[in-house]
Amino acid sequence: MVRCLAVMATTAVLSCAAPVAAGEAAMAQRQENHDPLITPNPHGKLRTWVPGGEIDTSNAFFQILGTNGRSCNTCHQLVAAWGTSVARIGQRFEATYGTDPIFRLVDGANSPLMDVSTLKARREAYSMLLTYGVIRIHMPMPEDAEFSLLDVDDPWGYASAQELSLFRRPLPATNLRFLTSVMWDGRETVAPFLPPMDPGEAHADLVDSLTQQALNATLGHAQAMEPPTPEQLAAIVAFELSLTTAQFRDRRAGRLDDADALGGPRALAIQRFYVGINDPFGFNPTGEPFDTNASMILFNGLVSRPGNGPRHRARALIERGQQLFKNLPITITGVAGLNDVLGVEAFQGHCTTCHNTPNVGNHSSGAPLDVGVADASRREAGFPLYTLMNNDTGEIRKVTDPGLAMLTGEWEDIGKFKGPKLRGLAARAPYFHNGSAATLGEVIDFYNERFDIGITPRQKAALVAFLSAL
Ligand code: HEC
Ligand code: HEC
Repeated sequence: MVRCLAVMATTAVLSCAAPVAAGEAAMAQRQENHDPLITPNPHGKLRTWVPGGEIDTSNAFFQILGTNGRSCNTCHQLVAAWGTSVARIGQRFEATYGTDPIFRLVDGANSPLMDVSTLKARREAYSMLLTYGVIRIHMPMPEDAEFSLLDVDDPWGYASAQELSLFRRPLPATNLRFLTSVMWDGRETVAPFLPPMDPGEAHADLVDSLTQQALNATLGHAQAMEPPTPEQLAAIVAFELSLTTAQFRDRRAGRLDDADALGGPRALAIQRFYVGINDPFGFNPTGEPFDTNASMILFNGLVSRPGNGPRHRARALIERGQQLFKNLPITITGVAGLNDVLGVEAFQGHCTTCHNTPNVGNHSSGAPLDVGVADASRREAGFPLYTLMNNDTGEIRKVTDPGLAMLTGEWEDIGKFKGPKLRGLAARAPYFHNGSAATLGEVIDFYNERFDIGITPRQKAALVAFLSAL
């Protein structure tokens, strides 16, 4: 009441109710500004939700368990939706003259043999990480592969059959409950996650996979001499699984959980999920048919009443983008893992054909696909190019990363990666496994060109507004 009177004294024309609402809004804003789990990014604000409301920074996830000063948190940071953004990596380089623990020869540098003795040398040595936000995953050619490595064109003069350099973006260590495979190529998936899966509970195979992943990350990225203890691994996995993250305020559209909208992490934390949910290809254990309109309902209620202000227009654009994501016709052709498996040269689908998990956007059953990101025709500066030959047919393929084929040795798996979760995108540019799309606009350009969609500038703006609000 006192607050109401005080405000009324200066704005006598307003009714009492409005200043109270304004006061509450200001208080909510102050709370938001001081909440450590709410962080700014170029499109607005990201929020992580965790039971109990606080992050335990004494968890092993934040501890240096190896020999090179790194923790999981070196590459998986709150502000970047528990991944990284190239903007932040650049800031860390400048702030520490390239000595922050993310800058380590083992897999932060373009090659482990690069000179890092001066600032200028370090800028060159870590140029892939600074430009594309990528870490060098290294693997030997698989034994008994159906293909041979004919040629390696590595600008950094290092990659060979003994050790291919595969430059990949860190995936977010949040919203892990929705995973159907672990890593871009699924290599830490100890057993395929099969339906039925208990909605709301972490699948035993997921926990086992994340445990193995944390072990290998500590031995690899962190160069530990000793494996972490079972207690440390369990603590890391429990911590990761407790995180739920999403964009929650948009710079122009305001709160994304306003009105009846379901943006932000609170709704995501209780999002129903099981392996195979809403699968378009008959893998839903309930037999329920795929419904593209069920794939994303986050922003159905964001525009609650008619209007014409900038906020209203921003909200309408996000809603329009959501519609396009679900209904824009895409003629899907030449996607290994899809067209060949279905035995159809072309079929009409949508973004949701591959990004089908409701309100999350990954594929709800493990489905590695080759959409062409690693193809030689899309090679960006600095990426090695690998020429592979089919041992039976003599056929040649040139890729910057063989993807799943590095694990299976199978010709048909070349260039296959998983369709990743799409939440918290605004906080973690660039995109795709190799960071080749610097912005979400470039992601749309990729699809427009790849599938010859004919997306208009207006449609592109709507799709970008939608993706930025996830
Ligand atoms: C040097 C950077 C770096 C460090 C340190 C690091 N990671 Fe990662 N993380 C990555 C990269 C890069 C990928 C993707 C690699 C791939 O798919 O081939 C990844 C992938 C993951 C994934 C897979 C998510 C998914 O969607 O499949 C999880 C989970 C994860 N990391 C957790 C951890 C944990 C836990 C630690 C600490 C024990 C850790 N990471 C340390 C860079 C790092
Ligand atoms: C044919 C299947 C398919 C279709 C259709 C498809 N995607 Fe994807 N999407 C993928 C796969 C697979 C990846 C990972 C590719 C890679 O990195 O190599 C991906 C990656 C992405 C990413 C990057 C996410 C990240 O974390 O880096 C975004 C964003 C995205 N898709 C949005 C869209 C939008 C928007 C549409 C519709 C215009 C669409 N996708 C249509 C399969 C598909």
